[in-house]
Amino acid sequence: MKLYFNPASPYVRKVRVTAHELGLSDKIELISVSLTPVSPHAGVRSSNPVGKIPALITEEGTALYDSPVICEYLEALAGGNRIFPAAGPVRWTALRRQALADGIMDAAVLTRYEQAVRPKELRWQEWADGQLLKIRTALDALEREELQDVFDIGTISVACALGYLDLRFADEGWRKSRPRLAAWAAAIGKRPSLAATAPPPP
Ligand code: BEZ
Repeated sequence: MKLYFNPASPYVRKVRVTAHELGLSDKIELISVSLTPVSPHAGVRSSNPVGKIPALITEEGTALYDSPVICEYLEALAGGNRIFPAAGPVRWTALRRQALADGIMDAAVLTRYEQAVRPKELRWQEWADGQLLKIRTALDALEREELQDVFDIGTISVACALGYLDLRFADEGWRKSRPRLAAWAAAIGKRPSLAATAPPPP
């Protein structure tokens, strides 16, 4: 399999952590790409029409995207319900947490583009503040969750979202008012799958 990849992308990291946990990392060749909404990558666009990473090319040559679909595909390849709980409330909790964490990533990546790519004279502060409010509110909700002793697609996604905030929004200091979430992130970050996929420092 081939995976279009960038080490900073929290969505790619989700896929890599999932592959690592399922023992599939060795079966995935990473194709490193750099891209933004204003500098798309032709190879990525030929696999995923909306031009986003991660995009996975399976052994059969089928392109799959985006991260929730690829993670579920990898789980099906590995067999069993190891990352996606099979049924019941635990499944819905895991999927809801994945959506919450993906929402943090969406707001953070859009804000990153606003800061790093959009020309200064075109920046819109209220829009950026709105994205930051989404991130803060989602983090406050996670502070109230019982994340301990759970390792599934929900908590993988949360760990990757927090890792992206550390990479690009260290000044936000998300740990300050969220001690439970901070302690949880420190503990889960020691897992080999998360340690092996940590983004390089900026
Ligand atoms: C980043 O550099 O922050 C980034 C790169 C790829 C995807 C998303 C974010």
